[in-house]
Amino acid sequence: MLRRLHSEQPESFAFTPANLEWAQGQITKYPAGRAQSAIIPLLWRAQEQEGWLSKPAIEHIADMLGMAYIRALEVATFYFMFQLTPTGSVAHVQICGTTSCMICGAEDLIAVCKEKIAPKPFTLSADGKFTWEEVECLGACTNAPMAQIGKDYYEDLTADGFAKMLDDLAAGKVPVPGPQNGRYAAEPKGGVTSLAEYAKDRHQYNASVQLATDIGDTVKRIDGTEVPILTPWGDQSGMRGQATSAPAAKPVRTEAPADKTGIDKREAQAESVAKPEADVPVENEGTKPEQLTAARDGGPDDLKQIKGVGPKLEGLLHELGFYHFDQVASWTADEVAWVDQNLKGFKGRVSRDGWVDQAKVLAAGGETEFSSRVKKGGVYDE
Ligand code: FES
Repeated sequence: MLRRLHSEQPESFAFTPANLEWAQGQITKYPAGRAQSAIIPLLWRAQEQEGWLSKPAIEHIADMLGMAYIRALEVATFYFMFQLTPTGSVAHVQICGTTSCMICGAEDLIAVCKEKIAPKPFTLSADGKFTWEEVECLGACTNAPMAQIGKDYYEDLTADGFAKMLDDLAAGKVPVPGPQNGRYAAEPKGGVTSLAEYAKDRHQYNASVQLATDIGDTVKRIDGTEVPILTPWGDQSGMRGQATSAPAAKPVRTEAPADKTGIDKREAQAESVAKPEADVPVENEGTKPEQLTAARDGGPDDLKQIKGVGPKLEGLLHELGFYHFDQVASWTADEVAWVDQNLKGFKGRVSRDGWVDQAKVLAAGGETEFSSRVKKGGVYDE
């Protein structure tokens, strides 16, 4: 199926304060430089908040995670669980149209959707309360035909029962999920034929339905108010069901970076995950360049304007006695070899990233494409 962004997009997106706090907590699950691992939960939360994923929402999350927009768009358009068009305010109905359900009446359920919601999928009903789509097997084939409505499964459906269910939902009721023909779970329609002694002690509903009714969030969207912020991985006091006072990680940037591609943020972050080099014989130990004991009057230059130098490498350069562009610009090949050997954890970066050529431009008062982006902000988080 071709999955495209909707033709009509909102101007902007922002998480609610509760959802923003939750999102920042999620990011703390991952090591420095790996924030983009939180892309799916954050996209999901945005969808829960808005009902669907708009382009501003996807880009906003990409900015939060320091990702190129295209990477976030790839995720949003790849997974069918992400809705790229507005969904009904009450529920988005997903009818399974795969073999078992099709044999058992899925087409009748789709006919109900066409009549009661809209003739075409992904189209809002006249009252804006519903949308529908046909989906592939949802793994409840034993209880075919079935539909997922909101977060729960409604199984063993008939066209009439399903039509009434939509009426109830429109009226503000939430039908009990699970089998709709009296079955408890997925046992034979005539009742259990084994382990019957356990059946007498069971709950009112099967485990999935029991949980759904206990939580009561079948068609309710998660909005950040129902579950406290959960960051037990960053705060020992953060037990399930208890709110932590604040996310353990520093707040992430929420404004758009200067560079919409996010490429330089990734380069900046790559520095923080540099691995120690293996001990290998050194062919040229090089010559130690002239060092300073401190920056000259006026303070050090912003060495992070050299592409490949992030905050850690800048600190390392200061430790080695290098504070200014003209120092770097003056390094000979032998001196580059020495510095390359002495950048613990970052060996070889001077020659790999061409620091000397960049420093020559910067020392002369010029700018590189990268330095101008650093100056505008957005490459490195403060
Ligand atoms: S075929 Fe419908 S749930 Fe598997």
